[in-house]
Amino acid sequence: MISQFMIYSRFRHRAYLLTMLTSIGLLMLSTTLQAEPPAPVLPYQSLHETQGTVTCASSLCHGAIKTWKESNVLQNEYITWSRTDKHAKAYNKLLNAKSQQIAKKLGLKQPAHEAKICLDCHAHNVPEDRRGDRFKLADGVTCEGCHGPAEKWLVTHIERDASHAKNKSAGLYPTSDAAPRAKLCLSCHFGNKDKLVTHRMMAAGHPRMSFELDTFTEIAPKHFVVDKDYAARKQVWDELKTWAIGQALVVSETMDILLDEKRGRDGLFPELILFDCHACHHPMSENRWKPKNAFGASISPGLVRLNDGNLIMLRAVAFAIEPAQGEAIAEQIRKLHRAIAGDGDVQTEALALKKMANDLVTVIAHKPLNTATIRSAALRLIDDGLDGYYDDYAAAEQAVMAISSVGSFLNKQSGIRNVAAFNQNLRKLNDALASDERYKPAEFAARLRELRTSFATIPASISAPDPK
Ligand code: HEC
Ligand code: HEC
Ligand code: HEC
Ligand code: HEC
Repeated sequence: MISQFMIYSRFRHRAYLLTMLTSIGLLMLSTTLQAEPPAPVLPYQSLHETQGTVTCASSLCHGAIKTWKESNVLQNEYITWSRTDKHAKAYNKLLNAKSQQIAKKLGLKQPAHEAKICLDCHAHNVPEDRRGDRFKLADGVTCEGCHGPAEKWLVTHIERDASHAKNKSAGLYPTSDAAPRAKLCLSCHFGNKDKLVTHRMMAAGHPRMSFELDTFTEIAPKHFVVDKDYAARKQVWDELKTWAIGQALVVSETMDILLDEKRGRDGLFPELILFDCHACHHPMSENRWKPKNAFGASISPGLVRLNDGNLIMLRAVAFAIEPAQGEAIAEQIRKLHRAIAGDGDVQTEALALKKMANDLVTVIAHKPLNTATIRSAALRLIDDGLDGYYDDYAAAEQAVMAISSVGSFLNKQSGIRNVAAFNQNLRKLNDALASDERYKPAEFAARLRELRTSFATIPASISAPDPK
């Protein structure tokens, strides 16, 4: 079995370390796949009534102090969430001085903890008429904020013939599936058409956002265990696919915001969070412009560049998992950069990229993976850095999270030569991200080169025992 992951987490950049394997445990190479259901409505969009956290929290339900041996699930989820999960404190954060200051600077009419633009992400802020008697806004990002309002599944999910499929059709949100999970987390950790941390909010003091689906699933305090029994009930998503699908969907959401009349604009200017922060925020005396591989040859100095950390990741995903699509996606990204610089139509190019990203999600979901693919994905992430793709901080930050995810999966296939050395190098990479202001691409590349030696040459395919 794989023991608890060691977590290396720091403010604003996170990567998680690999676990020493005592034996080759679950080798989760996805093979069979279920047909994809239509995109589910997000918990905050559901028309069902939210029942309130206390309805989940009884000691006979999910509020047990100790895990139950005879149950499929841990049963102490409420304890984990309420004691250690930041989501439980997300509303409380709106009461602190920082939040009150943000609200004041933005000139909001209400204090932060009453303002819809804050509550939409810091709580399960459903309309009044969809709040049951035991609903409490102050509970923050609640069970139902992720698992969906329980009106129709609360009673049935504990019946004898309950199944994951039945629960889902009664409105349980499919957090177990990679793409819907990505949409859920991203709705708050990146933003979507309905809610967004804008440049104005950041200028008023809101932290920058950085998110990667696999890493964040891993570093959030776990209230579930992916074991044999889990695999019998639900599909298991490996780290590579989770990362890849998360990346494709961020790009898709970014294109939506870019194209959205309301979200994509702020007065005369476009919404600035879509652009590279350091294109604007650096001293003029640095004179640091140089051409970049990532942007293609035609991007000249003096332009506001797209914030393309996730675009660079999408390119890496495509080359690693679906090489036939790699060059097409790389070219589409260059076209979008050119269009934003005035050479081409932004609408056309953004829509084309969005379609490619969405199509890639389906391809990734169904692609059988072998160890050679995982290894080449890991090497691609490193070699892109050596080719200068991570000159921007946001891209480097994404790359570190990606390397920790893909590395973790590779490790489960015995594809890491020396786990301790890998972890040590990962720490150094993370340290190179300590401050976005002082980020040095050359130093980062040097650390990447060291890490490259950790990957073992492994046979293309190890037979994967079924987790069941
Ligand atoms: C699109 C969703 C979204 C919106 C809108 C939003 N936030 Fe946040 N906020 C987040 C997320 C996600 C984090 C955690 C970021 C991280 O750690 O990666 C966060 C973090 C914060 C933090 C830092 C918390 C800490 O632990 O130090 C404060 C303070 C904050 N938000 C206040 C506000 C206020 C005030 C508003 C309204 C003006 C607001 N937020 C609007 C999603 C949002
Ligand atoms: C930030 C989102 C989030 C919140 C909040 C949250 N969960 Fe989860 N939960 C997940 C994810 C992600 C999984 C893992 C994927 C899956 O199996 O659905 C999960 C899994 C579970 C499972 C299934 C474990 C299994 O083996 O099948 C249970 C039960 C559960 N959560 C209960 C709760 C309860 C009770 C609360 C509130 C106290 C809660 N969750 C709050 C995201 C969340
Ligand atoms: C309804 C909005 C919302 C959703 C949905 C949501 N989050 Fe969050 N998340 C937040 C906010 C707000 C914070 C910051 C809370 C704080 O700092 O007090 C946060 C914090 C976190 C943190 C802690 C980060 C840190 O700085 O330590 C992790 C990890 C995390 N979320 C993972 C996830 C994952 C994984 C999902 C999807 C399964 C998810 N979140 C879904 C709003 C959300
Ligand atoms: C197109 C240029 C541009 C881009 C891109 C940009 N900003 Fe800004 N930013 C500005 C301007 C202009 C101001 C206002 C400066 C002032 O008031 O003196 C500002 C102000 C800020 C402030 C407040 C600084 C202060 O002194 O109070 C923060 C924080 C900030 N931006 C963060 C970001 C982040 C994070 C990003 C990337 C996600 C970003 N900016 C992208 C132009 C930009």
